[in-house]
Amino acid sequence: MYKWIASGIIALACLFAVYLITYNMPEKEESAEPSSLIAIPATPVDADAALQVYKSNCLSCHGDQLSGGFAPNLTNVGTSMTKEKIYKQIKQGGGGMPKFEDRLTEDELVNITNWLAGMKK
Ligand code: HEC
Repeated sequence: MYKWIASGIIALACLFAVYLITYNMPEKEESAEPSSLIAIPATPVDADAALQVYKSNCLSCHGDQLSGGFAPNLTNVGTSMTKEKIYKQIKQGGGGMPKFEDRLTEDELVNITNWLAGMKK
């Protein structure tokens, strides 16, 4: 008798665990921010800091003076891309570019995004 009750409880616990696992899954996927919801604060650009970050992280691919090389020329990127796209590209990388979300602080990311968004020929 007790055996049946015990295995009943275990079975219920298992079902509940499965329910919790499957129930939580879609939530986790949704937590990745859709790019349309990213808002880049319009902080004043610290050009010196941006250039510093650029030199140590980006120059090797994007070239001296943003002139391009292995990677696209960025001198006019403020015209061809929105701030949100620039931010996403730097943060998440893609298309041969590494992601920088673990290498730059949020402030550095926002600053270099705003700096690049001002690059218009
Ligand atoms: C290892 C080389 C590499 C490094 C380092 C790198 N990038 Fe890139 N980047 C690329 C490549 C390759 C692309 C083109 C991606 C594509 O076409 O999808 C790109 C694309 C971009 C774009 C989009 C340009 C466009 O016109 O499509 C931006 C903005 C950008 N990079 C900014 C940066 C910044 C800022 C840094 C430094 C924090 C950086 N990148 C570091 C290789 C690099």
